Amino acid sequence: MAKVTLRKKACSCFSDRFLCIVGALTALLLIWVFLYSSRLNLLFFGFKTSIGPNTSHDPPEKTFYDDPDLSYSIEEPMKNWDDKRKQWLRVHPSFAAGLQERILIVTGSQPSVCKNPAGDHLLLRLFKNKVDYARLHGYEILYNNAYLHPKMDSYWAKIPIIRAAMIAHPEVEWIWWIDSDALFTDMEFKPPLERYKNHKFVVHGWPNLIYENKAKSWTSLNAGVFLIRNCQWSMDFMDVWSKMGPWTPEYEKWAKILTSTFYDKTFPVSDDQSALIYLMFTDRKKWGEKVYLEGEYYLEAYWKGVEGTLDNITKGYMKIEEGATSLRRRHAEKLSNWYGALREPYLKAKGFGFGLGTGRRPFITHFTGCQPCSGNHNPSYKGNECWTEMEKALNFADNQVLRNYGFLHKDLLSSSVHPVLFDYP
Ligand SMILES: *[C@@H]1O[C@H](CO)[C@@H](O)[C@H](O)[C@H]1NC(C)=O
Ligand SMILES: *[C@@H]1O[C@H](CO)[C@@H](O)[C@H](O)[C@H]1NC(C)=O
Repeated sequence: MAKVTLRKKACSCFSDRFLCIVGALTALLLIWVFLYSSRLNLLFFGFKTSIGPNTSHDPPEKTFYDDPDLSYSIEEPMKNWDDKRKQWLRVHPSFAAGLQERILIVTGSQPSVCKNPAGDHLLLRLFKNKVDYARLHGYEILYNNAYLHPKMDSYWAKIPIIRAAMIAHPEVEWIWWIDSDALFTDMEFKPPLERYKNHKFVVHGWPNLIYENKAKSWTSLNAGVFLIRNCQWSMDFMDVWSKMGPWTPEYEKWAKILTSTFYDKTFPVSDDQSALIYLMFTDRKKWGEKVYLEGEYYLEAYWKGVEGTLDNITKGYMKIEEGATSLRRRHAEKLSNWYGALREPYLKAKGFGFGLGTGRRPFITHFTGCQPCSGNHNPSYKGNECWTEMEKALNFADNQVLRNYGFLHKDLLSSSVHPVLFDYP
């Protein structure tokens, strides 16, 4: 009551009337905001969530998924995939933002239990490594352990799953295939997609070996790790590529052709890597020119080249951190990419290049010739070196992850970890 009389008094003065009305309106507005703040929150929240892809609704408009003749199998060629994918994206506009950078990592292993007693454990750790990398960079990851075509097993198994993944994921621009025996040894590096804007396929390899040398080597590139664009070219390419594999009657013919083409191919069967190289140089215009042969950084490094360098690399990075307060600062894992970018100028100042032995972590280390699941390895590798080097590489990568959780393996050959002290090192 007292307040009302006071207000009446104040408002009775004409010159103050305007201020008085503004004051009353402000009070009303404040009450309204207070009463409806929960609804406002909802509004803001809803606004925020609608910025990303809308996964809670599939519009009724027909897309390629509604075509009963569309097949996920490599036995049926895919036609007009670019238009089909575009049309799906038109119907699902919330997936448009960030489309060009969207990557799905695809990896996998055999359908059955490993013969090597440590095989399944190693495969689990190799998968954990890829899950860590994917989480750190916001990529999605697909693990497959079924042969989607019964005859496409071993190194041929990737083509059917990549093809099916393209159809299942029209929202991703790239599929990034990574063999089970390859692992990320630099958790901070990201593939420079901008560099590949005119290409459909990215693989680690050497153009002179493929196009210039008369004597062809089947190791002129490594098909264990590659990026392939989600487009019609890739569908056509996988169609031709897979037909050199075991599901067609042509398989035997290709074994002969490939074995006689590559001077160093000692096993007389058609394999995916020789087939890929063969297609690139026999039809360079159609296939070869769309393939970016990456050699500036290690999209995949042969493990024998990495062997014995990891402890020294750790020391080099630690030296840098000793002299850079900002790099020693503890932070949330979500901000790791930002700290990774912060490290870059220090690496450059130290002259760390992207080649092996220059001090930088190799991006991906590939244990070619070591088969964790069967336990077999190339006879030229001595004793346990495949498995000890794999253990070191796994712990080297794990250290880059565990650091954000407050722990580190001090010894790369030990599974035990130690707490990281504040302001380490
Ligand atoms: C997704 O789209 C549907 C239909 O347009 C809409 O009702 C729903 O609110 C959207 N969801 C989000 C989270 O934006
Ligand atoms: C060790 O790393 C440093 C860079 O930190 C490099 O200059 C040196 O060559 C490396 N030594 C060996 C033996 O790899």
